[in-house]
Parts: sequence; C-alpha cells; structure tokens
Amino acid sequence: MSAQAKSYEGSSPAYDMPLDKIHVGQPELFRTNSFWPYFERLRREDPVHYCAESEYGPYWSITKYNDIMAVDTNHQVFSSEAGLGGITLRNQNPDFLLPMFIAMDPPKHDKQRKVVSPIVAPENLEKLEGTIRSRAAKMLDELPVGETFDWVDRVSIELTTQMLATLFDFPFEERRKLTRWSDVATAIPGFGIVDSEEQRREELRECGAYFTDLWNQRVNSEPKGDLISMLAHSDVTRNMPPMEYLGNIILLIVGGNDTTRNSISGGLLALNENPDQYQKLRDNPALIESMVPEIIRWQTPLAHMRRTALSDIEFKGKQIKKGDKVVMWYVSGNRDEEVIENPNAFIIDRARPRQHLSFGFGIHRCVGNRLAEMQLRIVWEEILKRFKNIEVMGEPERIYSSFVKGYATLPVRIAG
Ligand code: HEM
Repeated sequence: MSAQAKSYEGSSPAYDMPLDKIHVGQPELFRTNSFWPYFERLRREDPVHYCAESEYGPYWSITKYNDIMAVDTNHQVFSSEAGLGGITLRNQNPDFLLPMFIAMDPPKHDKQRKVVSPIVAPENLEKLEGTIRSRAAKMLDELPVGETFDWVDRVSIELTTQMLATLFDFPFEERRKLTRWSDVATAIPGFGIVDSEEQRREELRECGAYFTDLWNQRVNSEPKGDLISMLAHSDVTRNMPPMEYLGNIILLIVGGNDTTRNSISGGLLALNENPDQYQKLRDNPALIESMVPEIIRWQTPLAHMRRTALSDIEFKGKQIKKGDKVVMWYVSGNRDEEVIENPNAFIIDRARPRQHLSFGFGIHRCVGNRLAEMQLRIVWEEILKRFKNIEVMGEPERIYSSFVKGYATLPVRIAG
C-alpha cells in the first residue's frame, strides 16, 4: 500500500503486533519505506510511546504535531547536549565527541548560533541567489536528454554541494570532498559508506585537517562573508578546541547538504507519483512558491530530532524520567490529520504550506530554512524553463537511516 493511503489497518504488521513491541526507529523500516503504518498506529493509539528495548536502548516516541511542538520549545527540560547523547536516537560516541551548537543548550548554543546566522540574512541571500541560479542553469543544461540517469548524483548532490562550497568559500574543484564528509558523518559503519567506525573517524580527521588549513588562511586575512571566516573572526568561536571546530563544520556540512539534497530528489518523486500536481505546476509555474514548502513537509528530510530529559516530567499522562531519551518524530507530526488537512496527500497549492515541522521549532529551529527554500525555488524555476517532463524510471533506493530520510539513487529520464 502506498504512503498516500488513508489507513493501513489490516494490511500491515504494524497493527498486528503488541503496541509495546513497536520500535519505529529501525533504519530498515526507513530503507523499505514501510514505517508509515507504525506511526499511524502510534498517533491513534499511543501518541507518547515507550519502547523499552532496542539496539539504541529504551526511548520515548512523540508522534503528534502539537506534542512535538511542546517538546521542541521546552529546552529547559528537554536537552540537546552532546554529552547526554545529543540529537539523534543513536547516542554520540563518547570516545569521539564532536561538540556542535545543534547539540548544545543555552547559553553556549545561543552565542555560537549568532556567529553564523548572518549567512542567511536577506541581503546575503540576495547576493547568493545569482550564483546559485547560474550554477544551477549550467548544470541543468549539461544533463542528458532521452536517456536514463541518476538524478541524485547528477542533480541533487551536485547542486547542494555547489551551494555548500559557496557558503564556505571552499575550493570549488574539490567540492565533492564536502559530499563525502557529509555522507561519512551520518553513516552507520558496515552499510555501504564506511566499513568501520575507525575508517569513519579517520576520514573525519582528514576533514578537520583540511578545514584547519582554510581557517589558518582566513584568520590572517580580512573578515569575509563565508562561514569559516565568520567563525575565525568572532570572539565567541575563535578559540574553539579542534574537535569543537570540526563538530561545527560537520553540522554546517550536514545541515546544508543531505536535507536540501533529499528535498530536490523527493520533490521530483512526489510530482511523478502525483501527475495531476505535476500538470498543475506546468500550467502555472507561480505555484513553485507554495510547492517548495509542501515538498519539504512531504519529504521531511530529517525524520527526527532527539532530546534527553533533564528532570522527571509528566507529559500527556506519561511519566518521563530524568535521563530518558525522547524522540520527536517530525515525519509523523507532518502527517497528523488533526492539524494538517489531508496530510498524506501532496498538494502543491495548499492553503497553509508552511505549517509543518520539518525545520523544527524553538531555539534550534533550522538556521538555513530560507536558504533551503530559496535554493529549491531556483532549481524548480530553472527546471521548468527547460524541461517539460522528467520521468522517474524506477524505484528509488532509500537510505538506511531513521534520521536522514532520503534517497541514495533515483533513476530518471528527461523527455526528448
Ligand atoms: C530542506 C532543508 C533543511 C531541513 C529540512 C533542515 C532541518 C533542520 C532541523 C530539523 C533542525 C533542528 C531543529 C530543531 O531541533 O528544532 C535544523 C537545524 C539546523 N540547520 Fe537545517 N535544515 C535544512 C537546511 C539547512 C541549510 C541549507 C542549512 C545551512 C547552512 C542548515 C543549517 C542548520 C543548522 C546550523 C542548524 C542548527 C540550528 C541550532 O541548533 O540552533 N539547514 N535543520
């Protein structure tokens, strides 16, 4: 049954197993796109759900829109601290802790976030728009017509990697290093990207060494508008220990890479699965404006964020204990029928398309949200100028992760 169906009751093992055995954080459920019925059942029967046993230890799942908002905006109780495990269901490894401001609480979080926020100030976005558009146009012009190719590699990865290189003022010819480091940072060893945790660390150390060279160049020159220069010239960040610098670099690489990449792939897939919406878009390209946030809701590129309870708290009738892991499933909140009308449908002209959880809420709400939206808008404007139909030719290969929700490959063909 497709993700568009109304109810999976009677057609999925999700409804047959005892409620307390449900463990929605299994990466395999995401690789096979079979997690939807589990969330549907949890939203209906046990919206604040305790999974007592899993390979990640016990954890709570928050699955309804308003409950997720309540947790995300209560950082006094629900901590993001790396030392407590960080922001994903899988704990950060204590032997290789990478402090980064997404995994910090106030006051340090707030100070570091302020250092890089100017990258997305309206005047900076305006400056970036021209570069992003001309690079996107060139890349689209070079795509093959009439033959099948991988959209993820040729378009989604290439565009977001180019944008990242621009944000860091990173040597453009070497930009695929950024793609590699992003993949390595979020990889589970043994599932295709790296073979072992040791290999992962080694590659991330190389990333650290490369960015240290760039830091040394920038710190001795005039402050500029790129992210490394911002970090090197601010009183708040100029004395960061090496692992904290690496941590924040990884945050900015992953934050700006996988998410936008998977939105570019997800958007094309959604339009192919909903040909009436694709036609609506061709008839009226102005709908790109509302389609972009709808793609981001529909895709939900980060399936969850995790917190750790700093004190005992009663939440929706459940007793959450100090130290418990609490997972906010954005992917489920974005399909909550009590808040979003017809949430399983992809509708490019929704009345309130920005009503979604994909960027989170509260003090950690995504710094790059407007940049991501701008990039998606430009890509779709340039695509519609050139191609009438881009057809998905087969099933996408999905990523083995319950955190990064996305695609490893997506075969497509541009109609001749
Ligand atoms: C569609 C694209 C994107 C999605 C879905 C997304 C999603 C998210 C989410 C869910 C969070 C955490 C929110 C929370 O905990 O409440 C976040 C934080 C963050 N994002 Fe994004 N993101 C996207 C694009 C970007 C881009 C382009 C950048 C650019 C550089 C970026 C940089 C960051 C950073 C630095 C944080 C940490 C903010 C903090 O802790 O204060 N993101 N993002």
